[in-house]
This record gives sequence, C-alpha cells and structure tokens, in this order.
Amino acid sequence: TKIYIPRDTTALAMGADRLAREIAAEAANRGETVEIIRNGSRGLFWLEPLVEVDTTAGRVAYGPVECKDIDSLFDQSFLLGENTHPLCQGLTEEIPYLKKQQRLTFARAGLTDPVSLDDYQQLDGFNGLKKALQIDGQAIVDEVKTSGLRGRGGAAFPTGIKWQTVLNANPGETGQKYIVCNADEGDSGTFADRMVMEADPYMLIEGMTIAGLAVGADQGYIYLRSEYPVAHQILNEAIAKAEHAGFLGTNILGSGKTFNLEVRLGAKAYICGEETSLLESLEGKRGMVRAKPPLPAIVGLFGQPTIVNNVLSLAAIPYILSNGGQAYADYGMGRSLGTLPFQLAGNIKQGGLIELAFGVTLRELLEEYGGGTFTGRPMRAVQVGGPLCAYLPESQWDTPMDYEAFQAIGAGLGHGGIVVFDDTVDMSEQARFSMEFCVAESCGKCTPCRIGSTRGVEVIDRIRNNENRAENMELLSDLCETMIDGSLCAMGGMTPFPVQSAVKYFPDDFDRQTQNSE
Ligand code: NAI
Ligand code: SF4
Repeated sequence: TKIYIPRDTTALAMGADRLAREIAAEAANRGETVEIIRNGSRGLFWLEPLVEVDTTAGRVAYGPVECKDIDSLFDQSFLLGENTHPLCQGLTEEIPYLKKQQRLTFARAGLTDPVSLDDYQQLDGFNGLKKALQIDGQAIVDEVKTSGLRGRGGAAFPTGIKWQTVLNANPGETGQKYIVCNADEGDSGTFADRMVMEADPYMLIEGMTIAGLAVGADQGYIYLRSEYPVAHQILNEAIAKAEHAGFLGTNILGSGKTFNLEVRLGAKAYICGEETSLLESLEGKRGMVRAKPPLPAIVGLFGQPTIVNNVLSLAAIPYILSNGGQAYADYGMGRSLGTLPFQLAGNIKQGGLIELAFGVTLRELLEEYGGGTFTGRPMRAVQVGGPLCAYLPESQWDTPMDYEAFQAIGAGLGHGGIVVFDDTVDMSEQARFSMEFCVAESCGKCTPCRIGSTRGVEVIDRIRNNENRAENMELLSDLCETMIDGSLCAMGGMTPFPVQSAVKYFPDDFDRQTQNSE
C-alpha cells in the first residue's frame, strides 16, 4: 500500500518526519507492506500532517495525524481507506476545500513526489517546454501576452510586455541576458512560492527555461529566501536531476539550446524582495534599492537585460505554453485573467492555499474556505496583499478579488496573502506595527521612508497615549502623504496604506477617550 506523507515545511513543522518513521515502524511491526512517499503539500494546512492512503477508489485522507493516532489508525484499517476513524476526511479529491478550487498552477501540488521526474512528466510536465522548443522567441512571448498573465509578485505588470521588453533589448557585446526568479517571498501570510518550490519544483524550472528560450537568455538564478531551507534542498535536487535528464543545461532535449540555472540564497532582508535591491544582492552587494529607470528589463543583473519575475508568474508559464494562452485567459474577470493562488493565514480556522479564478469575493474565501476564525470570535479586520496593503473591515469583504476592483477601494491584492484578525485586535497597534516594520526593513536610501517611518511610530505612540490627539492625527495624515509621494520604492511608498486604512475604517481604535467611555 502506498502512503503519502508530505515533506513540505508546514507538515514538517507539525511533525511529519517523525510520523513517517513511526508509521513505517508500526507497519513493519504488524507485517504490513507499505511504501511511504514523501509528497508535496495539498495546501490544506489545517489538516497537516495530512496522511493519504492509496486505495482502489482513490486517495483517502486522514488528518491532522499525530503519532498518538497511529495505533488506532492501523486498528481501524486505514490502509484499506476505511472511513471509521474520526480523522478520516474521505477521498482527498472530494474534500470541498480542494474540490471547489480551480487549480491550474497547483494542479500537481501534493499529488507527486516533488523530485520525481516520472511523476512530473506523467502529469503534463515538460509539455510546455517541448512546445516552446518548436516555436521562436516571439511566438512564446505572444502566447504569454495572450494569456493575460500579470506579475504575481504583487505589482501585476503584464508579464508578456515585460518579456517583450527583454526580447527587444540590446544585450551589447557580451550578448548576455538573464532570467531571475524572485523567490524572496517576504509578505506576511504568504507561502505560495514556497509551496511551488517544495511541491512542484520542476514547474518553476520549466517556466524559467521557457523564459530563457523566449528572450534568448542562457543563465537563470533563483533568488531564494534563506529562511526556506527545505525549498533550497528540493530545488537543488530537482535542478541536478533535470540537468542530468537533459531538461536543463546545454543542448536541452537535443535542441542545441542552453539554459543553466542556479539557486542563490537571499540576504534575510524584506527589501531584497524589491527587484532592484534583489539584483544588487545577487551581484554580491548590500541590498539597496536602485532608482528606476533604467528598468531591469533593459539594464538588469550585471547591467544586462533581465527578466525578474516572481515564482508564481514563472510557475504559470508551463500551463500557458502547454494549453495555450487562451486556455489560461478563459479564467478570471476584466483585466485580471487566469487564477490567483490565495493564501489564507492569521486567525483562521482552515488556513491554506486556495487557487481560484479572479472574481471570487473575499467573503467567500474567508467564510466558505476559511470557516471563520481559529479563536471562534467574530472577524474584524483582514489584511490582503501583505504588510504594505490595506486592512479591510467587513463592509469591504464583498469586493471581488480583482486587481482593479481592489485598487478602486484603495486596497491591493499583492501576492495573494490574506491575514485575518478577530475582534480583539487593536488597529492602532497594527498601524504602529506597519511603521515599525518599515523602520526595520527600510534600505535607508531615501528620507521619507528612513526617517518618516521612525516619526510614524512616534506619532502613533502619542495618539495612543492620547497626547494632542487631533493635532497628531493630522500630522500622521501629512506624514503618510509625504511617504507616499516622496519614497523611491514601494517599501516607503506603500507603508502608509495599512496605516491610512486603519485610521479610516477603525477610527475608534485611535481614540482612547471613545474606548474609555465604552
Ligand atoms: P513596479 O510597478 O515598479 O514594477 C512592476 C514590474 O514591472 C517590475 O518588474 C518593473 O521592472 C516592470 N516594468 C514596469 N514598467 C515596465 C515596462 N515598460 N517594460 C517592462 N517592464 C516594466 O512595482 P514593484 O516596485 O516592482 O513592486 C511593488 C509590488 O510588490 C507591490 O504591489 C507589492 O504588493 C509587491 N510586494 C510583494 C512582496 C512579495 O513577497 N511577493 C513583498 C513586498 C511587496
Ligand atoms: Fe529604501 Fe525605503 Fe527608499 Fe525604498 S522607500 S529606497 S526601502 S529608503
């Protein structure tokens, strides 16, 4: 019997390694023949470690499984997929959280052993690359344009146009162009990049190789968040295997084309996820933001034309090439086409990864998928899009998840992270935290961000202490405007958004007198 136990960071944090060892030992004890496969995660994090058993009817899920449950699982014939155990979730594919999703990018996540080339190829793997090898660079770029894919790192710039810029850019005497994958996933509540790398690394390798073929770049780098050691190990293993099998390196699948790929560990700074700072760091320098223009697409890594794309953008490429750009564009709404892998986190009962077409409402995600808060208390505020985006109260939760619709309410989708707070949250404290985060993470290059964030913490402290409240509220508002208008990059330029949203939607939290009189 095949038993699947994830090797992804979330499952490992919940004791998956020990669980795998003890299940193997107990099976041996009972004379049962089992094959334990360490798959990626399905993204149903509240059920981790999610143990799946292969049966004739399909894979049956049990979770969250702890070592203390092993005896009773064997006693109740879990190897046959019997549904008598309280941890049995039935057929994995039928779990509503998973069944209702539209998984294009995460179609294979959790189904496969992440480093098995056979598993990958059995489920459409490398079909996009094979297509790309048959057409020229412009035709690849056109397919990406047709898909409507926009940068999934958060800024939502059209990927096809970025690729076109690099394809057209003159690389000078050396002829060198680069593909850089931004895997420095730093937003609070986000884990989709990590899940791609830990559950389906060949998809990223394939996407980057296609990008290289598209624009004529033979070297790629994955700039990986150094706090992701499991992803690091899996990526390196997958790159070595892909090279050995001829999917990477020189003469890819006998085509005469070359693409080499290396992983570089990040410098443990949020700002190194900003593309120009990332390039500085990749060049071995301190991660300081460069002024744009020139765009990295024209003057990028070591001064050469460079595609810098987020993991999720590159991971969408194999599907687009394999199925055609139009198949991807058939999902979504307005100018937000395809799917977005939403990441539900914070105070939520059922946290995890939910890939759906754009257009689903925030409320559906929170209620139908999330199932309410972990604490069972009412939800009060939700931060969508990471630490630089707005906090939203219930009145905004019916907004469709669409880049333009979110922009229209002064919010952002960012990288798809959703962090939930219950009614015990003090939003003035959250606003203070936004400024404090900027103090810690600012690269220091420009004054509104470097000094402004420190002043921001101070002024919010005075408001919280009820000192000259009206005057300080006005000062905070002015400071936010200055940071937005005067900062060089999104770090200082967007930090005011969560602060302003907290003030706008939760004014009572900034007024001790109101609170005291309640
Ligand atoms: P941006 O709007 O300056 O640029 C977006 C991308 O488009 C860049 O790669 C830029 O080089 C490229 N671009 C712009 N015009 C172009 C043109 N004409 N031709 C070719 N390429 C062009 O945004 P930025 O500062 O790169 O990103 C800000 C976003 O990052 C925010 O919206 C935020 O949500 C997100 N973010 C994501 C994080 C994560 O962990 N994924 C962390 C922090 C912020
Ligand atoms: Fe550096 Fe902040 Fe200025 Fe960005 S806004 S360049 S992080 S100081």
